[in-house]
Amino acid sequence: MKNYEKRIAVFDSGVGGISVLREMVKLMPAEDFVYFGDSKNAPYGTKTLEEVRELTISHVKNFLAEGDKAIAIACNTATSAAVRTLREMFPEVPIVGIEPALKPAVLHKKGGKVLCLATPMTIREEKFKNLLKQYENDAEVIPLPCPGLMEFVESGHYDTKEAGDFVYQLLYDYRDNAVDAAVLGCTHYPFVRNLIQDVLGDKVEIFDGAYGTAKELKRRIEVAGLLNPDSERTGNVVFRNSAPSEEKTALCEKLLYGQA
Ligand code: DGL
Repeated sequence: MKNYEKRIAVFDSGVGGISVLREMVKLMPAEDFVYFGDSKNAPYGTKTLEEVRELTISHVKNFLAEGDKAIAIACNTATSAAVRTLREMFPEVPIVGIEPALKPAVLHKKGGKVLCLATPMTIREEKFKNLLKQYENDAEVIPLPCPGLMEFVESGHYDTKEAGDFVYQLLYDYRDNAVDAAVLGCTHYPFVRNLIQDVLGDKVEIFDGAYGTAKELKRRIEVAGLLNPDSERTGNVVFRNSAPSEEKTALCEKLLYGQA
């Protein structure tokens, strides 16, 4: 097997990273992907940095042992905990992470108000603080930790009344166009994007980092000479999970192929 024929491993604490995977599949249809969700250990966002770093490194070692050619950490929380360490450990491997898409949100309206939804860990960590510093003069960025939100997606109950009520309570102070833009800084949140839009108001522009991350992955794979050149080919996606079940696989397929 040629190196460019090997798989790309995409990883998240659970099913949220599928919001990033779907952009990758669209952008690189010839590639084979393995998607690993660590649902057994989810949520990551309420764990310590050390716990998340250890889990992430161990998953990446497993992907590399299986011969995967590139790694996408489709989880903002795991990225902030481990991407730097991983790049130092495996400098020859294309590794991408994801971070809250503050840049386009701030550019959307200079001097405006930008709400950034993410996990408690993402918001607490150094990486996010550095990101905030870059944009603090251009907009008012309001970080909002959202413990409990990812669980609605993880359990498949993301389009229920309970999820809607939860989102309403969470965003109550920012309802009815009180902010100019919102950033979905956790890869689970695009699956409750409509609920978020309903509460924030229809004038609020919502951003996430999925497409940007997919583009960056493609760029890195290309630079490394690992992009599959066969433009006739349709690649495949394999789902793996640390708490495997038929329901989980069905949910993954629904999230990837079933809805916008
Ligand atoms: N999907 C993850 C992220 O992007 C986090 C969800 C969690 O495990 O708390 O941050």
